[in-house]
Amino acid sequence: MQQSRSTRPFHRPASGRRYAERRYRGFFQRLVARREQALASHLLAHPHPECNGHIVDIPCGYGRFYPLLKQQNFKVSAMDQSQAMVDIYREHENFADADHAEQADVLKPLPARAAGASRALCVRLFQHLHHPELRIKALQTLGANRRQVVMTYYDDASLHYWSKRLLMRLKGKKVRVKMIRRADFESEVEQAGLQIIKRIKLFPGLHAQTWVLLAPRDPA
Ligand SMILES: C[S@@+](CC[C@H](N)C(=O)[O-])C[C@H]1O[C@@H](n2cnc3c(N)ncnc32)[C@H](O)[C@@H]1O
Repeated sequence: MQQSRSTRPFHRPASGRRYAERRYRGFFQRLVARREQALASHLLAHPHPECNGHIVDIPCGYGRFYPLLKQQNFKVSAMDQSQAMVDIYREHENFADADHAEQADVLKPLPARAAGASRALCVRLFQHLHHPELRIKALQTLGANRRQVVMTYYDDASLHYWSKRLLMRLKGKKVRVKMIRRADFESEVEQAGLQIIKRIKLFPGLHAQTWVLLAPRDPA
């Protein structure tokens, strides 16, 4: 089964750089971006007894979360399907020698240099994975090596869901992002051998983006 094409491929550095400059420029987008940093910071600070200080940021995009990860003293493995994004990430002015950036697909096992990470950060990918099989595969990659995972998905119980559906219907277009029923997401997490420790909505009732902290499921 193939991933949907709803995420942009960013084949060229120029398109990645344009995206980095423009994506979070508007007032509402800046508000969203600020709240995302606060939620990531909060969830990454959750205690993890098996933490070795190494985190994999996948998909890393152009490095929105790199300063936060360094502030929290992580050794970072930055991975993205787009080589252009990986190149932009690596060009970060404070990119540390101990860190590395590499092309990788979350639907396959991680490259050797990232495999030992005890934490994973996965922001703004799951709304592009339209089929449960793909989401379970991605959850298995993220949660391998008994990783604690901080990630986002779009929950369908919000005004965002209905307003987006209405807007797209009026424009005669299909909704490109996948919003998932809470019960379905919970079942997928369980099938991947994980459990939800915390769940926080970006803007409750208004925005579909939902942050979760996942940990390996304890044996029954
Ligand atoms: C919306 S961006 C999010 C990037 C970053 N997490 C952030 O929040 O700024 C989505 C990214 O997912 C990457 N991507 C899409 N499918 C992927 C896959 N199967 N494995 C790894 N990265 C993928 C795209 O190249 C793109 O850079």
